[in-house]
Amino acid sequence: MKMETTESLWRSGTPPVMADIPESLSRVFDTIIVGAGITGITTALLLQKAGQQCLVIDAETVGSGTTGGTSAHLNTFFDATYPEIESDFGKDTAKQVADSGKEALSLIKEFIDQYHIDCDFEYKGAYLFSETEKETKQLIEILEASRNAGIEVVEYQDNGVPVPFQIAIHFIDQGQFHPLKYVAALADEFVNLGGALLENTFVNNSSYENDVHTVEAGQSSFKGINLVYATHVPPGITPFSFRCAPYRSYVLAVKLKNDAYPTGLAYDMQEPYHYFRTHEIRGQKYLIIGGEDHKTGHEDPVQAFKNLEAYAHKYYRVESVDYKWSSQYYIPVDGLPYIGELPGAADKTYMATGFNGNGMMFGTLSGKIISDLILGVENQNAELYSPSRMKPIAGFSEFVKENADVAWHFVADRFSAEELESFADLQPEQGVLAEINGTKAAVYKDAGGTVTALNPTCTHAGCTVVFNDAEKSWDCPCHGGRFDTSGKVITGPPRADLLKISL
Ligand code: FES
Repeated sequence: MKMETTESLWRSGTPPVMADIPESLSRVFDTIIVGAGITGITTALLLQKAGQQCLVIDAETVGSGTTGGTSAHLNTFFDATYPEIESDFGKDTAKQVADSGKEALSLIKEFIDQYHIDCDFEYKGAYLFSETEKETKQLIEILEASRNAGIEVVEYQDNGVPVPFQIAIHFIDQGQFHPLKYVAALADEFVNLGGALLENTFVNNSSYENDVHTVEAGQSSFKGINLVYATHVPPGITPFSFRCAPYRSYVLAVKLKNDAYPTGLAYDMQEPYHYFRTHEIRGQKYLIIGGEDHKTGHEDPVQAFKNLEAYAHKYYRVESVDYKWSSQYYIPVDGLPYIGELPGAADKTYMATGFNGNGMMFGTLSGKIISDLILGVENQNAELYSPSRMKPIAGFSEFVKENADVAWHFVADRFSAEELESFADLQPEQGVLAEINGTKAAVYKDAGGTVTALNPTCTHAGCTVVFNDAEKSWDCPCHGGRFDTSGKVITGPPRADLLKISL
């Protein structure tokens, strides 16, 4: 029983990847990859297999970011629906997106077969169901556009879960797996091929001179011909902080009193939607149920978990909620991810972000596209997902809304500090924004009563952070930067920690 923690089901009991660092790190690597999630490790393995010498650097450990917090659905239909893609980009593009999803799923399966990876992979049917007239109309459009795009999907009499529905459709040959077992196995293969993996090392800076990138990481610096940011949005201030909105999604792993565990994958169409599946870990089945997504720093994470638990109890006989966790993903302005060369940056700098809730698929696809770009191999999807694409019109209204929101936080949060009589008023493990002698501070009292005060101005672009009570972190509502209670960066794009204020 793991209640009151926010550890994901995947992290429990998964042995960390032990990495070897080659004797000489003074060499010039072919490619340096920042981020050891599914995107970074897939890219690294493909390049290393092709004969390159790569270095992967992660601020924590392999899969410790969003890859370790995903619910690990492997779908060829995406959060940007086929009717939306068809209407914004045309039928041919919708088909190409569908084909690229199939390619990503095939690549995952190829790796699993080639390296005999024991990661609980299973093909599953996926149900999408409507509960209102409006959703039913949308679902019929999704059915038609998905078929037009070449996806195998049929109307179905069941939705796979005990939630009343109007109509359901069934996508054939979708999948699920244990994301950390998978990515850890890929990392092992990368290291076996001579790849270098440096964990628990934060990349502070990078520069480019004489066709070589120099990456400052921890106390060391490393050189590489190519540089890949597999960190969602690239660090620092780039257009992609404004073209992608950060969201948090919440997940529970639940034991049931009966055996009503879903046999497939299921999704409702509410906004935000709920998703369901089953995973067995060490002989114990868990219902994995997720949803309650919201923009990072914009709603109460504690309430999001409560809502999700109430939802689980409404439809299932819950024995216990054993794990609960949340993770961050990024919604791109026009619905499609940005994968490829980072525009406006030094030559041979690559990025991958805007995966929406489909990170396992687009992370894998990113590995293929970026490795092909670096190796000079033609990739039919490179143009479609290029970060330089000029297609802002498709999601323009959403783009304006997201940016208006950011602008509001730039100004409004600066005046919302709460006056505290004294730190005695703070509860253990509580964080608040407060005025201390006229200076605004992010104040946290730990379980032992020690109070830490930080400058609450996010070191990325100056928004004010807010406290995340569920995960005890300071989250930035503008571009999703996150800091621990000591001020250390845990999620970019900020590179510098929050500064301490002496009390
Ligand atoms: Fe951009 Fe904080 S993450 S201002």
